[in-house]
Amino acid sequence: MKGKILVTARSFQKMEGPHQEILREAGYELVGSPLDRPLEAMELEPLLEGAEAAILGLDAVSRPALEKAERLKVISRFGVGVDRIDLRAATDLGIVVTVTPGANSVAVAELTIGLIIALARQIPQHDRQVRAGGWDRAPGSELQGTTLGLVGLGRIGSEVARRAAAFGMRILFTDPAPPSADLVAGLGAEPRDLNELLAESDVVSLHLPLGEATRGIIGARELGLMKRSARLVNTSRGGLVDEGALADALRAGRLAGAAADAFESEPPGDNPLLALGNFVATPHIGSVTVQTTLRMGRMAAENALAVLSGLRPEHVVNPEVYSRKQLRAARA
Ligand code: DGY
Repeated sequence: MKGKILVTARSFQKMEGPHQEILREAGYELVGSPLDRPLEAMELEPLLEGAEAAILGLDAVSRPALEKAERLKVISRFGVGVDRIDLRAATDLGIVVTVTPGANSVAVAELTIGLIIALARQIPQHDRQVRAGGWDRAPGSELQGTTLGLVGLGRIGSEVARRAAAFGMRILFTDPAPPSADLVAGLGAEPRDLNELLAESDVVSLHLPLGEATRGIIGARELGLMKRSARLVNTSRGGLVDEGALADALRAGRLAGAAADAFESEPPGDNPLLALGNFVATPHIGSVTVQTTLRMGRMAAENALAVLSGLRPEHVVNPEVYSRKQLRAARA
């Protein structure tokens, strides 16, 4: 055995396939997490001991945990978000951090469209009332001819735009990292600033990474700019939205509905949103499809193996690590 690889990403762990085989064939022992949920930094710390690589889900990674993980050369995220990883600490310690961009775009975009339709036709609400013996056929609304505002037109946002356009929706977007003119023209999407987009859209969907500039980007003021008939969908990160302000707006009928696949704290526990009938929740399943698990798993495994064998993978989020003398992979 060449060493241990810690795997905490639950779908990677649970689904057998080439993503696991290539790691074992390369001579590594795979060690899983005993907990069936994202780990807090203190919980991750002992598991990292002795690991050469870690294939992580949505776990929190702190500087103290990385300092103790003396053999760790690479954190390979099974996914794209790195908001729970102390990137500066990883870089300081010579640990490469990689991600799997593009692998989950279709899965997240399809879930987003599913949530938009679930809200427009009140599918979860109708399901609940039929099971309870009801037969109340309150009218829903069609998507055709309505306006979708995409906050973020990157890989996932643009896949959502393509699908929404097929439903006859008009597409507005805003993005702090402006997309190429060709992409925008191909999608037929119209640029707006955030305030205009919120005021004009019937559905607002969030597709941004969570960082200092985007935390709480949708708060009470922004919700107040939206139409009373509008709906908000968040399949990105809970921290983008002030969940208390959203609950207030939904409760007061200042917003027709909202859906989230991501929460500030996961699982969300006694989050007030969960008590509201016009709110739809899913348990961060955006990327959790068979196809995406295999695709993303393969990419995450290859990223880890590349670093362990002294190669530089394509999707490194802290490239500065390569200019540091103490790059751990160089000592492999
Ligand atoms: C991501 O890619 O970060 C998704 O949230 C799933 O991990």
